[in-house]
Amino acid sequence: MTLTEIADQAAIPAASRVWPRRAVLAGSGAALLACAACGSKSTATSSASTTSTAAAANSSAAGGSPIASVSAIPADSGLIADAPSGKVILAKSNGKVVAHSAICTHQGAVIDGTGTCPLHGSKFNPATGAVINGPAGSPLAAVAVTEKDGKVYPA
Ligand code: FES
Repeated sequence: MTLTEIADQAAIPAASRVWPRRAVLAGSGAALLACAACGSKSTATSSASTTSTAAAANSSAAGGSPIASVSAIPADSGLIADAPSGKVILAKSNGKVVAHSAICTHQGAVIDGTGTCPLHGSKFNPATGAVINGPAGSPLAAVAVTEKDGKVYPA
């Protein structure tokens, strides 16, 4: 069916239109291709979902993914790491790893490994989260972590 024939069909009332079988089948083919594309997209989504589920299962079996190696944490300072709850500063206190939020309590900048905020200069104790110098007035929030086989995990 040519474009002219299709245009002519459009001018005819819908109930009276005659569509050649070839045009109908061609249209069905396009619809099937569209559905095939939907099917493959759906499959890809399912695969990603399955992968996420498997990763989650593995993570929960191991107590979550490690966020750092204990050996990477300096003895006299802190280490910034990405935890599920956000950026944290890891430090050693009495031989144990402790963690606090690495988000400055003044206006939300990420502190560095020394506990210093680059935005306005607040300084926090990496091991306790306490404010050493303002303008921040509140300590860093404690974050629960555990150690296992030389790695630090979110608790
Ligand atoms: S945001 Fe950290 S000192 Fe202001």
